[in-house]
Amino acid sequence: MASLQIPTPAVPGVDSHGFEFLDTCHRDMAQNLVILQALAASIEADGISAETQKAARQLCVWFNETARDHHQDEEKHVFPPLLTSGDEALVQQVERLIQDHGWLEEDWIEIEPTLSAIADGYQWFEPAEFRHAVEIFRSLYLDHIALEESLAYPKAREQLDALALASMQEEMMQRRTRRSARSESRRS
Ligand SMILES: [Fe+2]
Ligand SMILES: [Fe+2]
Repeated sequence: MASLQIPTPAVPGVDSHGFEFLDTCHRDMAQNLVILQALAASIEADGISAETQKAARQLCVWFNETARDHHQDEEKHVFPPLLTSGDEALVQQVERLIQDHGWLEEDWIEIEPTLSAIADGYQWFEPAEFRHAVEIFRSLYLDHIALEESLAYPKAREQLDALALASMQEEMMQRRTRRSARSESRRS
């Protein structure tokens, strides 16, 4: 079975900055999608184990928190300057990327209850259906990341000046600090 080791979520301003940080998130996303696919295949072949339960719990947290934070980073800082660029072809592609975020959210809302059930050791779901849902999710995510890296990120890098990059960095850090403080207070 492939390794189910989930990468530790990267922290903006600590692990990397600005667009390098967004690239790091994409790398982690691609890795977690491979792990999610390996997890679904492993459960279909061999059922649930302590290892798959642990990986399922970590993937739930990663896609609920880190992936959603990443989508917000893009919707707040990367897409807006492109939507007002006046380049119609670019605007259309960015609108597609925003629509993808909605579809990815819908796919995730379908997958998350099963993943959460796996984390708790339940087996009520149909493994082949789960694997199929994961494949659709992964395929859409990879197409989405490819379009961002080939078009949206390079165009946004051209548009954002040093001041805009610094304010993007600050907002991304503060939002995560607030969320981790909320998570801490829920746990205590
Ligand atoms: Fe995105
Ligand atoms: Fe992205």
